Amino acid sequence: KLPALKEVYKDHFVIGAALNQNQVDNPNSKAMELVKQQFNSITPENLLKWESVHPEPDSFNFQPADQYTQFGENQGMFTVGHTLVWHNQTPDWVFTDQEGEELNRSDLLKRMENHISAVAGKYSGKIDGWDVVNEAFEDDGTFRETEWYKIIGEDYIEQAFQFAHKADSNAQLYYNDYNLWKPEKRDAVIALVKDLQSKGIKIDGVGMQSHLGLEDPSVEQVEASIEAFSTLGIDVMITELDINVTRTLIDKDIEFEGALPDSLQQQLASRYADLFNLFDKHKDKISRVTFWGVNDGQSWLNYRDDSNRRNYPLLFDRENEPKSAFYSVIEVV
Ligand code: XIL
Repeated sequence: KLPALKEVYKDHFVIGAALNQNQVDNPNSKAMELVKQQFNSITPENLLKWESVHPEPDSFNFQPADQYTQFGENQGMFTVGHTLVWHNQTPDWVFTDQEGEELNRSDLLKRMENHISAVAGKYSGKIDGWDVVNEAFEDDGTFRETEWYKIIGEDYIEQAFQFAHKADSNAQLYYNDYNLWKPEKRDAVIALVKDLQSKGIKIDGVGMQSHLGLEDPSVEQVEASIEAFSTLGIDVMITELDINVTRTLIDKDIEFEGALPDSLQQQLASRYADLFNLFDKHKDKISRVTFWGVNDGQSWLNYRDDSNRRNYPLLFDRENEPKSAFYSVIEVV
């Protein structure tokens, strides 16, 4: 019998996977049997994003999220909500009035509050933690010039956290972003967390999205950010973990056909081992490690780059069988 990630890491941190709509719709599929066996946390890949759950001003599409949270409850899993305020996968109408004119600050804030109170309020008691704001900074640490930022100003972030706390006072509230191993971006997030804390606004953790490469960033770069965030007295979470093997092959002009060669499977396994050794070393700081998907076949990284090629980013292959990377993660503990 296969060892289970969630058992092996039980006393260290929770182990999660992002679920797509197809998986939520088929709770008895092979992929979902794997989820039940291996993971004790779930994140919805798309179904709680604004465009999915709130496609029109007065219409909400709660059914997929109902199924998702029900699955989490049935399995006793730490159930994450992703995401309340983001610039992507958010309909254009959110930022305009009926005449198509750009909304003013106070109307957009009302719209934000209405969305957060409807969605986070509805899943109060069912969602354990929310990615309240996603990807608010550029890699150089400046604010991303989203509609949220342009219309409301930089305080849109604190407003979102306050609305979320009002909607669900028990849920954990997180800031989530990618490339947080980059020092300028890390510093911007540290400043944000300190600012919220100084104002008495609840923030429980920072999610470090980890869409990584086979070689970059280095373990040391990731470690510096884990340590820096944890000094703020909040949880650090590794979210959206996957390793873009195909990107590296393209960048290095490595040709291959069909299945991934053994040498690359081994390289992926040792990359995962290095990362989990790091996470395990900081188990007192890290509360959760979530993979962005369950198996290679259903990963968002397939056919994503200009190459139009398959990808191999996760621990389970296209048949839901464990790869050598799976065993290397198991063996860390
Ligand atoms: C991705 C999903 O995996 C895709 O299915 C979708 O087409 C686009 O969004 N950062 C995030 C995630 O916070 O929500 C994104 O998910 C990946 C990047």
